[in-house]
Amino acid sequence: MNPRISVVVLAAGEGTRMKSKRAKVLHRAGGLHLVEHVLNTASELTDEESIVVVVGHQAEEVKAALAHRQVRFALQKAQRGTGDAVKACRDLLDHGGLLVVLYGDCPLLAPTTLRRLIEKQAASDAGATLITTRLPDPTGYGRIVLDDLGNVKAIVEQKAASPEQLAIDLINPGMYCFRSDLLWKHIGEIGTNNPAREYYLTDMVEILTRAGHTVAAMESPDASELLGINTRIELADVDRIFRARKCRELMLAGVTIEKPETVTIDMPVIIGADTIVGPFSHILGRTEIGEDCHIGAGCVIESSRIENGVQIAPYTLIATSHVGRDAHLGPFSRLRLENEVGAGAHIGNFVELKKTNLGAGAKANHLAYLGDSEIGAKTNIGAGTITCNYDGVKKHRTQIGDNAFVGSNSTLVAPVQVGNDSYIAAGSVITGPVPEGALAIGRGHQVNKEGWVAKRRAKKS
Ligand code: UD1
Ligand code: CA
Repeated sequence: MNPRISVVVLAAGEGTRMKSKRAKVLHRAGGLHLVEHVLNTASELTDEESIVVVVGHQAEEVKAALAHRQVRFALQKAQRGTGDAVKACRDLLDHGGLLVVLYGDCPLLAPTTLRRLIEKQAASDAGATLITTRLPDPTGYGRIVLDDLGNVKAIVEQKAASPEQLAIDLINPGMYCFRSDLLWKHIGEIGTNNPAREYYLTDMVEILTRAGHTVAAMESPDASELLGINTRIELADVDRIFRARKCRELMLAGVTIEKPETVTIDMPVIIGADTIVGPFSHILGRTEIGEDCHIGAGCVIESSRIENGVQIAPYTLIATSHVGRDAHLGPFSRLRLENEVGAGAHIGNFVELKKTNLGAGAKANHLAYLGDSEIGAKTNIGAGTITCNYDGVKKHRTQIGDNAFVGSNSTLVAPVQVGNDSYIAAGSVITGPVPEGALAIGRGHQVNKEGWVAKRRAKKS
C-alpha cells in the first residue's frame, strides 16, 4: 500500500547572506522563484493540497508569488530555526503516513530522487530517511555523522562542529522523509542548545535515535541536484545548472541550440522541433515557440507566442506579443508590448511596434514607429513612417486598411483612419481620414526657382 505523503516546504527565512531586500526564496534561478522549483518537484509526488509552505519573512509577498497554486500556507511568526518552522504546520497536517520536509532554498532536486527517498523510507522500519551526499567543499552545510551500521547518528551544524567534524565531507542537503507519527510525537523535544540559539530540525536525528528509532541515509552520487543557495554566488551556480538542464532537455527533444552555454532559456519555455536558437539568445517567461523557426543570435523574447516557421534575424526584442506563422522579423526589430503580427508579415530593422496589430502579409521593413495601431493585411508601411499616437495627454489609435501603401517618412497623426487600397504620398503629414482607394498627399508642393543660385552669388559679390 502506498503511504499518504505530506510535504512541508520551509520558506520563512530571510536569507541574510543574500544581502537582499527580497526574501531569499523569491530570488530566481532558471527564471522561476526558488521556492517554485521546490513546489514543482513536490507536486510530482503528491497533490498540492498535501503541501504546506511555511512563510514568515515577507510572508505576504511569498504567498502572492504562489497564489496560482493549490498549496496551503503556515505562518511562522518569528524565524527561530528550521525545527520551529516545521512545528508551525502541526495543525494543518494529519499525523499519519510520511512527512517529507524540503527547504525552499534547494531548488535543483529532481522528482526521481525524491521518489527514491520516499520509497526507501516506506520500505524500511526507520523513523526517518534523509538524503546525504559528498562535497569537495562542505563549508556551510550540516555534517553527517554515521554509526557503524551506516545509519545517521547526528547532524552537526557548521557553527557547532568540532575541527574533526568539520573535516567530514558527507553533508546534509536538507531533504528528509519522516514517519509523521514519530515526527509530531517528538518535535517538542528540539531545544535551542546551540551557538545560534535556534530550533534545529536536524536535532530530530539524535532525538529519534534516543527514542530507539533508526535514521537511515540515502547517499546520492549526484551532488549537483542537492545544492542549496545561501549567497548570490550559489544563486549564479544554480542558475547555470538550470540553464544547462533546460538546453539539454530541448536539444534532446529536437531543438538545435548553437553554443548552448551562451543561451538563457527559462524553465517554462516551450520550443518545437527543428527550431534553431542562435547564440546569446534569451527566451524568457512562458514563451512558446513553434517548429521550424529560426531565432537569430542575441534575440530577447519574453512571454510571447511565436508560431511555426517564423524567421527572426539577430538582435530582435519581443515582449508579450503573438507572431503568426512564417513571419519575418529583424534584425534589430522591437516588438515592445502586446502586438499581434499576422502570418507572413515582415518587420525589419529599427521598426518598433507597441499595441499594434499588423495584418497577414503586411510589411514594415525599415525605421518606423507603429504604436496603438491596426494595420490591414498586405499593407506596406514605408521607411520612416511614424504613428503620432500621443498628444501629450492621451493615446490615440491609427487605423489603416488592407492593401494600403504608406509612402516613406509619413506622419500619421492619431486618431486617424486610412481606407483599404489607398495610397499616402511620401513625406505626408496625415491628419484626417483617407478614403478607400484614394491618394492622400499631405505636404507642400515642390517649387523650383530657376537660376536662384547664380543670382544669390551675384548679390554677395
Ligand atoms: C540547513 C540545515 C543544514 C543543511 C542546509 C542545507 C538546519 C538546522 N540546518 O542549514 O544542516 O546542510 O540547510 O541547505 O536545518 N527557514 C524557515 N524558518 C526559520 C529558518 C529557516 O522557514 O526559522 C527556512 C529558510 O527559508 C530556508 C530553509 O529553511 O529555505 C533553510 O534555512 P537556512 O537558514 O538556509 O539553513 P542552513 O543554514 O542552510
Ligand atoms: Ca540554506
